[in-house]
Amino acid sequence: MKRRVFPGGYHVVRTNRRMALVWATRIALYAQLLLGFDRYSRGGVSITRELHLGLGIAVAILALVAFRPVPGLVNPGPRQLARFLPLAPLAIGLYFRATGMTLTPLVIAHIILAFVTVACVEIAAARQRRGMADVRVNIVRKDPPT
Ligand code: HEM
Repeated sequence: MKRRVFPGGYHVVRTNRRMALVWATRIALYAQLLLGFDRYSRGGVSITRELHLGLGIAVAILALVAFRPVPGLVNPGPRQLARFLPLAPLAIGLYFRATGMTLTPLVIAHIILAFVTVACVEIAAARQRRGMADVRVNIVRKDPPT
């Protein structure tokens, strides 16, 4: 029914929801970085250790959902990286938790992968924003509300 009145309406709601998921992923990722710096500088047993583990899992799930393939987005490479790359620092982190061994080379790889993840997420988020803008312009031009 909504589609008859404003054929683009349904699409706009869906893309806004997707953008909200992208924002949630970005915020969670930056919070995860802050917790990571705390882990790096202080170490030891503290609440931030559990938070870093929990948010790490949350970031990985959010990225998998937020960066699902979008039809019409050109060059999906960075988007695919943004979707799956958080799993890499998460895997290393789970190794730390499972074995209790925080080997320096692995910690360095963990941190580098986290920063590459941030870069890919930012690129993918910016591209999605631009893609959404195009969709809105097309909707306004082709299907003006009656
Ligand atoms: C996408 C980003 C990240 C994810 C998914 C992630 C995930 C994890 C997980 C699951 C652990 C295991 C926690 C535990 O020992 O129970 C861990 C440990 C650790 N993380 Fe991260 N992390 C991320 C980013 C960072 C960053 C940016 C830093 C530092 C600047 C960092 C520093 C550490 C350190 C030093 C540990 C060693 C174990 C500890 O003391 O907790 N992480 N990470």
